[in-house]
Amino acid sequence: MFDFQPDPDQPKPELYADMINAAKALVDGEPDSVANMANVAALIWQYLHDLNWAGFYRMVDGELVLGPFMGKPACIRIPVGQGVCGAAAASGTTQLVPDVHAFPGHIACDGETNSELVVPVIRDGEVIAVIDLDSPLHNRFDEEDAAGIEALALAMAESV
Ligand code: SME
Repeated sequence: MFDFQPDPDQPKPELYADMINAAKALVDGEPDSVANMANVAALIWQYLHDLNWAGFYRMVDGELVLGPFMGKPACIRIPVGQGVCGAAAASGTTQLVPDVHAFPGHIACDGETNSELVVPVIRDGEVIAVIDLDSPLHNRFDEEDAAGIEALALAMAESV
């Protein structure tokens, strides 16, 4: 039914544009945020290589709570301001971390993780969730990845 066939070797801007089109198609007309986050996490996993974790933390009563994801079981609750996800939620800005071991307060959910990209999902000026991507590679993510996931977060803000 959903036969997306990403080419992971195409230029990143095109890869992300394709992924966002696929995400829009998946959430179209669907109001259930859990279903939408689950499909977006699966899509990120399908489109991007060298990830060991990809998914959502949702802002619930002032703290980040684990949402739909791909990868190993992860920390369930993250206080705003703590770790990479908490920094993204507190600041409302993307956190591009080439080496998580050098990030003060990094929360090691999966010991395999070496680099991380966390993008806030903002709706009506408030951080409602973050999208977290982890990689076992050092320096896996660059500015094009950040721009791509930011565009995804913007496109999904009304659906998650
Ligand atoms: N490493 C993250 C925690 C979430 S897991 O990686 C899935 C952090 O420091 O916020």
